[in-house]
Amino acid sequence: MSQILKYTIKVVSVFFILTFLIAPNNSFAQDGEALFKANCASCHKPDAKYVGPPLKGAREREPEKGWVYKWVRNPITMVQSDPYAKKLHEEYGSIMTPFPDWTDEEIDAVLDWADAYVAPGAGGDGGGGAAAAAPKSDNTILYGLLTLVLAIVALILLQVNSSLRRMADESEGIPGKKPVPFYRNKAFLLLFTIVAFIFAGYFLVEGAVGLGRQQGYQPEQPIFYSHEVHAGVNQISCLYCHGGAQDGKHANIPSVNVCMNCHISVTEYTGDPIYREDGTEVDANAEIKKLYQYAGYNPDTKTYDESKAKPIEWIRIHNLPDHVYFNHSQHVRVGQVACQTCHGEVQKMDEVKQFASLSMGWCINCHRTTNVQFNDDKGNGNQFYSIYEKFHEDIKNNKYDSVTVEQIGGTDCAKCHY
Ligand code: HEC
Ligand code: HEC
Ligand code: HEC
Ligand code: HEC
Ligand code: HEC
Ligand code: HEC
Repeated sequence: MSQILKYTIKVVSVFFILTFLIAPNNSFAQDGEALFKANCASCHKPDAKYVGPPLKGAREREPEKGWVYKWVRNPITMVQSDPYAKKLHEEYGSIMTPFPDWTDEEIDAVLDWADAYVAPGAGGDGGGGAAAAAPKSDNTILYGLLTLVLAIVALILLQVNSSLRRMADESEGIPGKKPVPFYRNKAFLLLFTIVAFIFAGYFLVEGAVGLGRQQGYQPEQPIFYSHEVHAGVNQISCLYCHGGAQDGKHANIPSVNVCMNCHISVTEYTGDPIYREDGTEVDANAEIKKLYQYAGYNPDTKTYDESKAKPIEWIRIHNLPDHVYFNHSQHVRVGQVACQTCHGEVQKMDEVKQFASLSMGWCINCHRTTNVQFNDDKGNGNQFYSIYEKFHEDIKNNKYDSVTVEQIGGTDCAKCHY
């Protein structure tokens, strides 16, 4: 038995050493990475499509040398005048935030970092864009495989050990015990039990913790209201309808009279046909009529009948448990996180689908890696953090170049839990 214990200890320590070796330690290209995370990560991924194109290789694609510098400083004018920018914009739809006072060096730092970027745990899918929804740690699979390999190695070692011992015994003339078949080998049984226990426990806990989560949830709404038509094709700002996201805890769903601001005049749908997930075509005009019924509006006489009006019972999609505190303005206004980072490309969805898992790990991972937008000299960013003078001083003195949400306490339990 003590033999087995020794082996177990050995295996476990080898496992930990390997874990530390593999754990990410990319001190490389600090600068570019920090700049990227603070400014570009809400819309770009280094190696995959996101709200904007992958940044890897951007300078190889540019139509002329120096194009990217002009672009990053002034995308809005470029989109109107430059043919390549126009083409990009047609493909991606959203418009990039300008960074007018960025130097060529800063832009190069970000792009150098992106060019050198290798996805953690390389391989995997990577591309796919929409499919890359779950930011679940890819390491799980890596560690799982590692455990399996180590378990096999341990088994082989045990086997070799017992053979060696038998050979030694035989050469010394001690009668060897009859070899035990592997399924009656105590070491094997112990190892098997441990592995089974870990796996069962893992799935049980994952399942229990995941109760009530609903990533990908896409209910059928009372009116087939398409975000693609409104926020995509017709470029209506998210904040026109979800203004609460800027100023308050809730983003809010617009009431019927917000819809009627436009639909008094937009009485018919003339755009491209819209299809449901199952491929059937949506009768958009009938959907607009439903809106009129909810509003108690008669498009022929152009009058409202208050007594017939009733609120639209939209089905709620995102829903955190009651014990979690989440505030939109903290993220949208102060943190300057784009809606799409958390909700996916809503402007390309006909019906909204839950993009993120809304798990605690999802919140925490982002807080670990996202930098705080401090108040800059121009009065942008978060004035509140003037109380964190120390951070400012340390940044000035180049002790570090950015501060993550975690460092300001964004992973304290009480920040998110009532
Ligand atoms: C608000 C979202 C947003 C942010 C923030 C953003 N971008 Fe973009 N970027 C886009 C979009 C969208 C496009 C595609 C063009 C379009 O649709 O206007 C783009 C295009 C680009 C391109 C052209 C890529 C190519 O394939 O030629 C470069 C380079 C670029 N961005 C660099 C940056 C850098 C560097 C930052 C950070 C300093 C940044 N972007 C921040 C949205 C954004
Ligand atoms: C013209 C109004 C309007 C605009 C513009 C609009 N939305 Fe919406 N949004 C709605 C309505 C109505 C619903 C509820 C029905 C539904 O879920 O489709 C909704 C639902 C949502 C939901 C799901 C809410 C839930 O139940 O959890 C998200 C997320 C969302 N919108 C994000 C966005 C984003 C991001 C944009 C900008 C790209 C945007 N919306 C633009 C009207 C609008
Ligand atoms: C940091 C991530 C994050 C960002 C950024 C974000 N949201 Fe949300 N959003 C959430 C979460 C989490 C919920 C669920 C809130 C709940 O259940 O209390 C949510 C819920 C919503 C809802 C449902 C109604 C509500 O208020 O609970 C709408 C609509 C919505 N978001 C729209 C937007 C829009 C529009 C933007 C951009 C202006 C945006 N969100 C930016 C994470 C985010
Ligand atoms: C800022 C103006 C504006 C607002 C606000 C607005 N719409 Fe629309 N809506 C439009 C436009 C523009 C079209 C497309 C017309 C076309 O392409 O011919 C449209 C199309 C539609 C359609 C047909 C296409 C589809 O999405 O199925 C429906 C239904 C609709 N709107 C419902 C709503 C509802 C419900 C609201 C409120 C939550 C709303 N609209 C708010 C401007 C608006
Ligand atoms: C995409 C990245 C991202 C995700 C996902 C995210 N956050 Fe945040 N969060 C931020 C940023 C950035 C800030 C910093 C805002 C600031 O400058 O104060 C922040 C700040 C906060 C704060 C205030 C912390 C403080 O110290 O003042 C709370 C509370 C919070 N987030 C809760 C949540 C919860 C709950 C979730 C998950 C449902 C979540 N966040 C998901 C980026 C994110
Ligand atoms: C950045 C925000 C955030 C912070 C910080 C945070 N949590 Fe959570 N926590 C969440 C969210 C979101 C959920 C809901 C997850 C879900 O619905 O699956 C959650 C769920 C939980 C649950 C229920 C089990 C589960 O996973 O669903 C427990 C227990 C919990 N948190 C404990 C803690 C403790 C202890 C801390 C401090 C070490 C902490 N949390 C810090 C966001 C946070």
